[in-house]
Amino acid sequence: MQKDKLDLLISKNEIEKVLDKLAHLLNADYQKKNVIIVSILKGSFLFSADLVRKLHFNFIIDFVRLSSYHNLKESTGTVTLTKDIECDIAGKHVLILEEILDSGMTLDFLLKRFAANDPLSVKICVLLDKKEKRRIPIHADYVGIEIEDKFVVGYGLDYQEKYRNLPDIYHLK
Ligand code: IMP
Ligand code: MG
Repeated sequence: MQKDKLDLLISKNEIEKVLDKLAHLLNADYQKKNVIIVSILKGSFLFSADLVRKLHFNFIIDFVRLSSYHNLKESTGTVTLTKDIECDIAGKHVLILEEILDSGMTLDFLLKRFAANDPLSVKICVLLDKKEKRRIPIHADYVGIEIEDKFVVGYGLDYQEKYRNLPDIYHLK
């Protein structure tokens, strides 16, 4: 069996600094608002857990589980929802947390779904943005780091369910 080759791309120290930057912006924008944070599983679990511990405003956190990769390195183009949020977003400010924005299919799917439920606002915060890969013009309001079109793993991101637990982010060759 061939072994995967991993090259360090973003260290855990860099991730920590990026989270501080994002938290600073979010703390300024979301004071005294009715906020629902929606974390997209599975990939965003570490990003969300670390980021929310740096936030100093009141919010409810909820989760959706969406997938489109189905163990491949490219999106299949069909987004499947296997777990929906459990709260009502009507009249609330929704902040979506996603670890990586790639083709835009996942967020496009979620934005359309949420728009039907009358939120006051919906914004997107991503840790990584692979701009070159966009197939749908989705724009993230808060972006941690822009990266090249490379397949990455670690810090929640997987390849065939492997490597989610790595503390740093690696390029998988
Ligand atoms: P999009 O729908 O193509 O924007 O992709 C969003 C989802 O695809 C992300 O939430 C990840 O779960 C997955 N994904 C995109 N790029 C990568 C990558 O480089 N490594 C691992 N998963 C990725
Ligand atoms: Mg994801």
